[in-house]
Amino acid sequence: MRNVTLEKLFTHPIAQKYLGRSGIAHAITVAEKAYIIANSYKVDPDLAAKAGLLHDIGHYKWYRNGEWDYESYKENDIHAIKGAARAHKLLIRSGENPQSAKTIALAILLHTDSYLPDGELQLNPLQLVVSLADEADEEPSGAHHYRTIDQFSALERIQRLDSLIDKPQQSNQEKTS
Ligand SMILES: [Fe+2]
Repeated sequence: MRNVTLEKLFTHPIAQKYLGRSGIAHAITVAEKAYIIANSYKVDPDLAAKAGLLHDIGHYKWYRNGEWDYESYKENDIHAIKGAARAHKLLIRSGENPQSAKTIALAILLHTDSYLPDGELQLNPLQLVVSLADEADEEPSGAHHYRTIDQFSALERIQRLDSLIDKPQQSNQEKTS
């Protein structure tokens, strides 16, 4: 069992406060996709799933009359910067290894270049996995941010992903004991 599970992160008040801003359903789907894609890039699935879950935690509430205000968002958004810092705080407070917390925070910082002037980033494999997983769940006009999920189903999917990530570690332990 890992020291810090997705469930531990997801149920933390910081995650509960901020993940909903850009959609919990989107956050969980990106975590699941990042876990799957990680395999092809030989990336640690635990880091990929955590970065996927938290990649949009830096969003500000870009709402006007109940709708996402894209004009204002495009001009002023720094969600990747804010998200890297917010996720790092959450990870450290949850007891994550500081090296892993830094690696995850950097993957969040670089998961999009939309906030950089003519940005073209050289991504390492983990950073690429998170950005691919995010792109794979994008819908036209940002509809992926509006998809909803009830708390029970959300937690069920998080726990399922936790057990998938823990499985190879368990079987390795079994082999060595
Ligand atoms: Fe996203």
